[in-house]
Amino acid sequence: MKGEVIIACDFPNREKTLAFLDQFRDRKPFVKIGMELFYGSGPQIVKEIKDRGHKIFLDLKLHDIPNTVYKAMSNLAEMDVDMINVHASGTIEMMAAARRALDEKGSKAVLLAVTQLTSTSEQMMHEQLWIDHTMEETVRHYARNAQIAGCDGVVCSPLEVRSVLEACGEDFYTVTPGIRFADDAKGDQKRVTTPADACRLGSSYIVVGRSITAAADPVEAYLRASREFERGTEE
Ligand code: C5P
Repeated sequence: MKGEVIIACDFPNREKTLAFLDQFRDRKPFVKIGMELFYGSGPQIVKEIKDRGHKIFLDLKLHDIPNTVYKAMSNLAEMDVDMINVHASGTIEMMAAARRALDEKGSKAVLLAVTQLTSTSEQMMHEQLWIDHTMEETVRHYARNAQIAGCDGVVCSPLEVRSVLEACGEDFYTVTPGIRFADDAKGDQKRVTTPADACRLGSSYIVVGRSITAAADPVEAYLRASREFERGTEE
């Protein structure tokens, strides 16, 4: 399944976000609203961006006891977003509670589970999280759990997409952050690839934040990411 570039709108407030989106004029990129913006400007930002014609990935990565996730997801389902997520490490029961909440509200949102954050290296996973398996095995196992719980796909690095699709089938969504152009700084991200790599590795959607939001010309950076992701060749 081939989707599109999702821009991570990691801005502190409404004004900065809308000024950023204004630069795209009639283009309406798929945008990701994460914790920074949601907590900084409140839930109404979701409706405001949606009303401007953008598709929305609400990236709040829910992780709590199943009952709390069920109730939180029931509230979020009212926002009518296109994608939403939970942490796979919250267990199959917790992910299934999120699924049930969305289904009961009649939500059509794609439900994703975060496997391992792309800012976590394999060494950090071993030494700090005390997970003895390789990154690939861990992501693959979490993806299977997500599928068993009724999730539509996972958030992972493009580097793990092949393995996830082998375990879960080609229709399972793989939404992949950790994207940088070949000439960019990595920042805090560890498991990174270019948009072109992500295309070749089979990602369904790529999430790009700072490589677009911090670019001198964000619209051109978005178009470049879209072309690279579409064609599978670096520019
Ligand atoms: O600026 P950058 O492209 O690194 O932003 C990546 C975005 O994707 C951030 O909003 C981050 O929260 C999110 N994300 C991630 N790794 C995951 C899940 C989400 O980087 N596994």
